[in-house]
Amino acid sequence: MPDAPHRDFLAIPDFTKPELIKLLELADRMRRGEYEGKPLAGKSLAMIFMKSSTRTRVSFEVGTWQLGGHALFLSPRDVQLGRGEPIADTARVLSRYVDGIMIRTFAHSEVEELARYASVPVINGLTDLLHPCQILADLLTVKQHLGTWEGKKIAWIGDGNNMANSWINASYRLGFELVLACPPGYDPDAAILMREGGAHVKVVRDPREAVRGADVVNTDVWASMGQEEEQAKREVAFEGFEVDQSLMSLASKSAIFLHCLPAHRGEEVAATVIDGPQSRVWDEAENRLHVQKALMAVLMGGEALG
Ligand code: CP
Ligand code: NVA
Repeated sequence: MPDAPHRDFLAIPDFTKPELIKLLELADRMRRGEYEGKPLAGKSLAMIFMKSSTRTRVSFEVGTWQLGGHALFLSPRDVQLGRGEPIADTARVLSRYVDGIMIRTFAHSEVEELARYASVPVINGLTDLLHPCQILADLLTVKQHLGTWEGKKIAWIGDGNNMANSWINASYRLGFELVLACPPGYDPDAAILMREGGAHVKVVRDPREAVRGADVVNTDVWASMGQEEEQAKREVAFEGFEVDQSLMSLASKSAIFLHCLPAHRGEEVAATVIDGPQSRVWDEAENRLHVQKALMAVLMGGEALG
């Protein structure tokens, strides 16, 4: 179903600051149960998953249904993409059937290629480089629990991975302070840092420096999907980077802890932190549903951001 002009969401900077604020306001209305619309009535979302998923898969599928639409789960075992059909051909064919495509895959360039050839909106559900839907959910969680991200200090502890890169994009767009503590060799993407780092973004080596006075403490697994064989090597490199109670005690007293999940208790985070009183990880997971519904309502359902 080729749509007239359409927009994709491949990265946080695809929206301006005012648009991001409006999008998160819409998501917040959805979270509070104040949105009754069915903007996806009669519409379909294709969901391509080249990697595993619990939250992304379920929240996109349920969210589409809640907005009146229908979602199709496509794994490489089910579709010809898994047998080498070109991405460009897949994009052109799916565009004749569906009204939007969500994709989770390895190389970010594959998502860009899909978006180039699709004539319907494409949404990035995670690549090796970025995880922008998760950062929307994290921002909504910050808004829910701290009122705003304005003037807050966000700390990132651990790998300079897809999550870290998307936090950098968000700091660039929204202007909050972001301090990332990464071991040598595990810095965020150099091009994103160079392009979008600036006064508000700093990479340090000492987790305590990042966490001191922070309002949000955030971490993720040390070996992301596709890096499983590096697990042992990374456990050595990330020694001292576990978010435990002594690290949390350096943050602001009202600080919240976030983790996109899945988590490894006893590795990047202590059970006492992720299951403790400062953790907001379950709200954070729920907020995936609300932000993605807002995103689909705007990109696929004609909801205005203004
Ligand atoms: N946080 C996140 O994207 O989770 P899934 O891998 O379960 O989708
Ligand atoms: N950095 C993690 C995030 C999982 C949601 C990964 O890419 O595996």
